[in-house]
Amino acid sequence: MPKPKIYVTRKLPERGLQIIRKHFDMEVWPEYAPPPKKTIIEKAKNVDALATLLSDKIDAEVFNAAPRLKIVSQLAVGFDNIDITEATKRGIYVTNTPEVLTDTTADFAWALLMALARRVVEADKYVRTGQWKVGWHPDMMAGRDIYNATIGVVGAGRIGYAVAKRATGFSMKILFYDVVPRPEIEKDFGAKKVDLDTLLKESDFVSIHVPLMKETQHLINEQKLKLMKKTAYLINNSRGPVVDEKALYKALKEGWIAGAGLDVFEQEPTPADNPLLKLDNVAVAPHISSASIETRSKMGEMVAENLVAFFEGKKPPNLLNADVMKVRQLSKQF
Ligand code: GLV
Repeated sequence: MPKPKIYVTRKLPERGLQIIRKHFDMEVWPEYAPPPKKTIIEKAKNVDALATLLSDKIDAEVFNAAPRLKIVSQLAVGFDNIDITEATKRGIYVTNTPEVLTDTTADFAWALLMALARRVVEADKYVRTGQWKVGWHPDMMAGRDIYNATIGVVGAGRIGYAVAKRATGFSMKILFYDVVPRPEIEKDFGAKKVDLDTLLKESDFVSIHVPLMKETQHLINEQKLKLMKKTAYLINNSRGPVVDEKALYKALKEGWIAGAGLDVFEQEPTPADNPLLKLDNVAVAPHISSASIETRSKMGEMVAENLVAFFEGKKPPNLLNADVMKVRQLSKQF
C-alpha cells in the first residue's frame, strides 16, 4: 500500500515531522513565511491530508480543488482560519491541538499582565536608553499592584480557567463572563459569574480568552472600553479581531483605560506603523502565547497523532467536526 500523501504548510517541530515522515509521503513548505493561498490550493489537489497553521486560510476554495483530501490537521487550538462547515459537508475531518498549550498560554497572559502592571517593558527601555539618571525616586516607574486586585476573565474555558488559577496565588478577586455555565471555575477558585458589562466595570485587569467567532468579533468595542476603569488594563492573547483596535487606540490615547497587553492583532503581522505601537502603555508580542519549546513540540506530536489515528481507521483524538463521521459513512469514501 502506498503511503498517504500529505502537504505540510510549514516546518513543524521535529518530533511531529519525524512521525509524519514515517507514515506519509510528505512535502513541507520550506520557508519561514506562509505559503501563498495559490500554493496551498495547488498542493491540495494531490494530497490525502494537510497539516496547517492558523495563518493558512483553509476554505471552500481549497476544498473544491482537493478531491482526495480527507483530513486537515492543524497546529493550534484555535481554528477560525478553517471553514469547518464546508469541511464537514465534504466529509473532511478537521483536528486541532488543545490542552497541551493551556498552561503555556495562561502563563503568557500573565507575563503580559505583569509586564503592564509593573511597567517592565517601559522600565527596560528607560534603563537601556540612558534615561535612568537619578538613583532612586519614589515616583520612578510606579505601577499598579496585582495582588488583591480584581481580575475579569472573559471566556472561562480551559485557558481562562488556567489564568484564574494563577490569580489565586495573587489573592485576587476573580470575576468571569461566559455564555455557558462554568461551575468548575466557581467551585475551584471562588470566581464569580457576572455579565460582561459588570466585569468590565469592576475589574482592574481584563483578560480575554474567547474563540474568534461571529459573536465575538469586536466583542470589546468602543462602548465596552468606555465601561472599564481608567486604572484598568486589558490583556488579549486570544484572537486580534475580538478587540476593535481603532477603539482600543482611542481608549489608550484618551486615558479611558490604563494600558493593554496584546499578543494578537486584527492583522498579523501587525504593520510596523500600527499607531498602538507608539504608545508606552502597550506591551506587545508577535502571537507567541503557546510558544514554549516544550509545548510547541507536543503540539507538533499531536498534529501527527491525529493524522496517524485517522489513517489507521480510528477517530482522531482531537476531532473538531464529529458530524463528519456520519457524512463519511454515508458517502462510503473509504
Ligand atoms: C494559537 O493562537 C492557537 O490557537 O493555538
